[in-house]
Amino acid sequence: MIITFATQKGGTGKTTLAIAFANYISVNSKRKVNVFDFDFQKSFYHKWKEDELLDIPKLYDVEIIDEENEQPFSDFETLIELKESEEINIFDLAGTLDVKYSDLLIYSDFIVIPFEYSNVSAKSTLVFINFLGLLESQAERIFIRSKYDKGYKYLNQDGMDTEISRYGILLKSPVFKRNCLQILDTRKLTYEQKYAVKSPFAELIDHINKCLEITL
Ligand SMILES: Nc1ncnc2c1ncn2[C@@H]1O[C@H](COP(=O)(O)OP(=O)(O)O)[C@@H](O)[C@H]1O
Ligand SMILES: [Mg+2]
Repeated sequence: MIITFATQKGGTGKTTLAIAFANYISVNSKRKVNVFDFDFQKSFYHKWKEDELLDIPKLYDVEIIDEENEQPFSDFETLIELKESEEINIFDLAGTLDVKYSDLLIYSDFIVIPFEYSNVSAKSTLVFINFLGLLESQAERIFIRSKYDKGYKYLNQDGMDTEISRYGILLKSPVFKRNCLQILDTRKLTYEQKYAVKSPFAELIDHINKCLEITL
């Protein structure tokens, strides 16, 4: 299966959630996890490389996809193999819309879309939703409130929740803004980090299981 972390805006928490999810699911599932870094900044990949210095075993491999290495996309068959595989293939994308992402966005099983309640984020989330519509992507859209500030009353929250829920699943549990989520290593979640992502990830996994009629 293919689970892609994407949206049109940078800085919303795609890479943070992709790392946290890859770590979390590696420990909680028997399935093999593979990560593909499809962002030109390669922040997931660089962190994973850096973590080779840690004295903790790696949980998964991270491959980069760029001009020199478009491996999973050099032929369409490979993409379909990833989709049909029992393994969990996680993609982390850049915050820019690009035609090079089209096939992946069309054939992902799930697109996890982190968003915040700001005017800029609302607008770019809707642009991204529109883009997926134009591509006629069949992927299930899963929206997740990211960097959510507990003590803050977001003025446009209800309106945006209603709008977003028309296009996919909105997870009930947010990922709160937490200092412990600012730096994640790719080999282990701390107790605090696990606690911070547990509820939204349990919801996400539950949803994936129901949708594909499997057990992750
Ligand atoms: N839940 C969170 N709480 C606090 N900081 C966060 C959280 N999620 C992301 N960040 C921080 O926000 C910044 C952007 O996150 P990142 O995951 O790199 O976004 P993206 O991949 O969408 O560009 C990073 O500095 C990251 O540490
Ligand atoms: Mg990123």
